[in-house]
Parts: sequence; C-alpha cells; structure tokens
Amino acid sequence: MVNRWAVITGAGTGIGAALSIELARHGVHILAIGRRLIPLENTKEQNPSYIHVLQADVATKEGIESIVNAIPEEDDVSYLVQNAAVGDPAKLGDIQQDAFELALRVNVTAPLMLTQGFLSRLSKSHGRICHLGTSVVYQSQVGTATYGITKMAFHKLYEQLLVECPPQNVGICNILPGMVDTEGVWDHYEKAKKLNLEHTKYFDIGKQNGDMISPAQCAKFIRGILMEAPNDEYSKQWSRKSHWDEVMKLIGE
Ligand SMILES: NC(=O)c1ccc[n+]([C@@H]2O[C@H](COP(=O)([O-])OP(=O)(O)OC[C@H]3O[C@@H](n4cnc5c(N)ncnc54)[C@H](OP(=O)(O)O)[C@@H]3O)[C@@H](O)[C@H]2O)c1
Repeated sequence: MVNRWAVITGAGTGIGAALSIELARHGVHILAIGRRLIPLENTKEQNPSYIHVLQADVATKEGIESIVNAIPEEDDVSYLVQNAAVGDPAKLGDIQQDAFELALRVNVTAPLMLTQGFLSRLSKSHGRICHLGTSVVYQSQVGTATYGITKMAFHKLYEQLLVECPPQNVGICNILPGMVDTEGVWDHYEKAKKLNLEHTKYFDIGKQNGDMISPAQCAKFIRGILMEAPNDEYSKQWSRKSHWDEVMKLIGE
C-alpha cells in the first residue's frame, strides 16, 4: 500500500503541531520536523502510528538533506507545509547580523531548498505546497524588520512558485492565518514588550476581542485548503479574514 505523506516544518509547537495532529487524523502520514525533540515527541503522542518525528535544523544543509531523504521511496509526498519561522523583534540599530542571517536561512533559504528537494516527488503525486504567510509583510512596524523582511522574501518565493509549480502539477498556496495563540506569538510578545514596541497592542486587542484563534482552529482551516480545495482554486493566497466561511463549507462545517 502506498502511503500519503505531509512534510511539516516546525511540528513540535503551535500551528505546525496542531496541523500534524489534524492531518494525521485524516489518514496522512506526517514527517514532523523541528530542532527540539521533546515538543516533537509530544506531537507524536497524539497519533503515534501516523506522526513520525525527525529532529532536524532546517537552517543547515545536513538538516535539509535528512528531511529530503526521510520518506520511503515507494510512498507519495502529497503535501509540503513550510511552517517553521523565526525572527526576534529588535529596533533597526540593534539587529545582530547573525540573528538576521539565521532568519533568512530558516524563513527563506530552507523553504526554497525543501521545495527544490521535494519537487519531483510532489510533481509525481500532483502534490501541494503550503506557505504560512503573515500580514506583517504589508504593514511595517517599528522593531519587526527581521521577521518582516524575511517573511517578505518568503512571500516573493511563493509568488515565484506560482509561476514555476503549477506547470509541474504542483499546487502552491500562501495562507494568512491571522492571530493564532501559540508559543511563538507569546515569545515574540514578551520580547517586544521588554523593548516597549508598540505593536504588542495588537496582540492585547486580538486576545481581548476573540480575534486570536487556537492552533486547532487554524489547523482545521489549513487542512480544509490543503485537502479539499479544488485544483483550479488551490494556488492563490488564502486568508482567514476572507476565506473562513468558504473553507468551513469545504469541510462540511
Ligand atoms: N501564530 C500566529 O499568530 C501567526 C500569524 C501569522 C503567521 N504565522 C506563521 O505561522 C507559522 C507558525 O507559527 P507559530 O506561531 O505556530 O510559531 P511557533 O510556535 O514559534 O512554531 C515555530 C516552529 O518552528 C520550529 N523551528 C524554528 N526554527 C527551526 C529550525 N531552524 N529548524 C527546524 N524547526 C525550526 C520551532 O521548533 P524548534 O524551536 O524546536 O526548532 C517551532 O516549533 C510561522 O511561519 C509564522 O510566521 C503565525
């Protein structure tokens, strides 16, 4: 029997963990990737038969190589979810070159190299790539240069793939999930708060007015797009703000 796989970076926490559990529940084998073993093992515990842990650092060549070689050759690579991201807040004058270059490697170079590494297998299975984007690319804020610039480059990669992937039978979408209640968000919030950065107010407001959804709700939205969107509609930007009802309909909710 040929198994279907999803490659998910950043699967130990937040959106990546919730999506791993959601897709596994729907019969997809998950290659769950991250640097820390314990969070990955926690994700695996939710569905040990379908969630397979790979401890790897996407910022390194060895990490990318181990990911690309991890799935049995006879199986289908159906989904590549480019979810892992970093980018600590810092005012322009305080950005450290090493931190900026790390964000470039994780947020831009790794997704490019993973796409390159999986393209022929995705093409064979008429598979789908999914980028976790952010509206920060459209709104510059003081202190978000590292995250914003690298996510903008990641957005450009999505636009590039829009012209390169569909002719190879591979779908490519960019998802704007809105605010999601994750470890990453609160880590960013605490660091930004210490620097008195103004944009922390958006997290406070989002939390108060219920605009911040849970990772599980977000995972349902992403799963709907990944597994249920028709081929002629998949390759575009989807946002929670504009497409929530449409996607819930696709999954019958
Ligand atoms: N949460 C939101 O409100 C929100 C909004 C818009 C967009 N997004 C996007 O959604 C995605 C997930 O966000 P999240 O909030 O769920 O973040 P998160 O909780 O911080 O998760 C990010 C994951 O990436 C992994 N990771 C980081 N560097 C890595 C590396 N070098 N190699 C392998 N894995 C690495 C981390 O695990 P390790 O540290 O163990 O490696 C972590 O599990 C990101 O692309 C983010 O930009 C989130």
